[in-house]
Amino acid sequence: MLDPGQQKNIEKTKEFVKKTLDQAEAGHDYWHILRVLKTAEKINEKENADGYIVQLGALLHDIADSKFHNGDENIGPKMAQDFLETLKIDKNDIAHIVKIIENISFKNTFSGQKFTSKELEIIQDADRLDAIGAIGIARAFVYGGHKNNLIYDPNFVPKENLTKEEYKKGETATINHFYEKLLKLKDLMNTETGKELAKERHQFMLDFLAQFYREWDI
Ligand code: ADP
Ligand code: NI
Repeated sequence: MLDPGQQKNIEKTKEFVKKTLDQAEAGHDYWHILRVLKTAEKINEKENADGYIVQLGALLHDIADSKFHNGDENIGPKMAQDFLETLKIDKNDIAHIVKIIENISFKNTFSGQKFTSKELEIIQDADRLDAIGAIGIARAFVYGGHKNNLIYDPNFVPKENLTKEEYKKGETATINHFYEKLLKLKDLMNTETGKELAKERHQFMLDFLAQFYREWDI
């Protein structure tokens, strides 16, 4: 349970995030943040991590995603730090949350993630669960549409081993993104609850792809 001071900080953080993401692309908007928050709290029911850090980290994890800021990976952590310093929060907690934001993204799997903690593992699972299943499919096509990418290109074989730069460019047909990232997430889950929740969502994507090809190849 959070004390009243912590509760107040959570409310202030929600307001800040909602306002900052007001114009965000639909796959990375405030609804994404609220879904990740809820899933992270659910995962933490079995993990016993620090619930305050889990909530603040989930709320701030996409405050300035590098792909909407010319690839700059420092803006998000910096914005989170500046905001957290306006609240009454322990310095060590601020440092921990900033580290979570620096390390959560899938693109760190290319260069080797440099930090981990129970709280990061939980938020990362929640974020990755939102990238798979029915919601994940919806988000992928929203992002692909935002980038004006093709839905599918039968002449373009998906590359399962992209470089970090290729991945960050994100100029792939959206169906290829399933092979480059989404279908890998099930095996990257950190927590038992994450692994459990990923199973059904993974299978749903496989079913979706099978149906997609049946319709394409009619
Ligand atoms: P993370 O949130 O771990 O940093 P990304 O930012 O790469 O991961 O992806 C977040 C969401 O954006 C994912 O759910 C994914 O659907 C979408 N996305 C990222 N790159 C692409 C792409 N090239 N095509 C379609 N969707 C993408
Ligand atoms: Ni996210």
